[in-house]
Amino acid sequence: MRVTLNATGRPWVDLESEMLAWRGGDVAWRDGRAAVYVFNSGDDVMRVAHDAYGHFIAENGLGPAAFPSLKRMEREVVEMAMGLQHVPEEGAGSMTSGGSESIFLAVKACRDWSRSHMPVKGVPQIVMPYSAHPAFDKAAHLLGLEVVRVALSDGYLADVSAMTEAISKRTIMIVGSAPCFPYGVIDPIARLSTLAQEHGLWLHVDACVGGYLNPFVAALGVALPEYDFRLPGVTSMSADLHKYGYAAKGASTVLYRHKSHREAQVFHFDDWPCGHMYTPTLAGTRPGGAIAAAWAVLNYLGWEGYKEKAARIMAAREQLLAGLAELHLRVFGDPQLSIVAFGAAPEEDLDMLAVGKGLYEEGWFSSRVRNPDGVQVMISPEHDRFMDQYLDTLGRWVERGRRGELATGSKDVRYS
Ligand SMILES: Cc1ncc(COP(=O)(O)O)c(C=O)c1O
Repeated sequence: MRVTLNATGRPWVDLESEMLAWRGGDVAWRDGRAAVYVFNSGDDVMRVAHDAYGHFIAENGLGPAAFPSLKRMEREVVEMAMGLQHVPEEGAGSMTSGGSESIFLAVKACRDWSRSHMPVKGVPQIVMPYSAHPAFDKAAHLLGLEVVRVALSDGYLADVSAMTEAISKRTIMIVGSAPCFPYGVIDPIARLSTLAQEHGLWLHVDACVGGYLNPFVAALGVALPEYDFRLPGVTSMSADLHKYGYAAKGASTVLYRHKSHREAQVFHFDDWPCGHMYTPTLAGTRPGGAIAAAWAVLNYLGWEGYKEKAARIMAAREQLLAGLAELHLRVFGDPQLSIVAFGAAPEEDLDMLAVGKGLYEEGWFSSRVRNPDGVQVMISPEHDRFMDQYLDTLGRWVERGRRGELATGSKDVRYS
């Protein structure tokens, strides 16, 4: 039966306890059970984000003249992001509601910018690796573009030679991830940068996962492949604050090499009663809380705080890798960051999707990947407290799988 609005209001104390009781059925992310969706970096960080969000819950980023506080915070967040990613002085960026919006805006900017700078005949194309996020397909669908997904090379990386061959007269954008979601590996962005320059193409680097993680992992001494604006062919980048920036949900950044690229992102409209309307992003009204929370968390943690969180992630990752080796599971590719996808040895008859389902049924929530079949985890700083438990549980399900006790054969990687 459809729920209808109650005739009179109900006391907040009752509502609050009801809502919190419902939460009992959610994944227990505070106990380390979510290796996707939530990026837990501790109660203190959550408190800062929560309070900052609350202070600006009614304020609206659509009105910078009314809210110079938000205008300042957004500018400072974008400047910090540009600093982390080495965007040149003449670059620019925006805060958005998330990775999908950042990617949408970069694709929109590329489409509109290329109309005047590198026009193509027919439907413009994006060439990208098979591992790139579906947000590009969504953007292309909405913007009337075509996507060409190119098979990966060894190591689950973008195959630059195959991408070169896939480039046509209609190609306007190429994409690389740093890292990609399915396998956590950083594509060869340096080679993609050269390719973009050779063909005069727009290169978007999807650093939704890595934007606020890679600089700090590198600062720990890990030799990561180059991926940011120091590579001259990189035109734009998406980097999510609500992932490893540990900000409240609804916060990402999109960055551009040049202000003229960002100018192609914005929407101007004049022909209605209220005159000129300028919206830099897809949204009209923009939550002040998301801007405030991102600003507060960035300042609360600072460089050293993020580095410490990165160190915890890397320690948890080491423990995971050692545990996987003990269980005779193999890691897909050479992931250097927080995402690890793993499965059985090719010759072994072990259904990893069934193992992943078993973990899920015990409350451990992570993603699964296909071909080869595997489990994918995205490690947060607080996971270091739960890795022993995770490995014990994983070990039990792997054992059951090896004894032939699991229902096998389903290729469905979604949980329902
Ligand atoms: C590499 C990558 N790009 C883009 C996105 C989309 O981000 P969002 O879910 O914030 O829209 C994700 C989300 O996990 C991602 O991992």
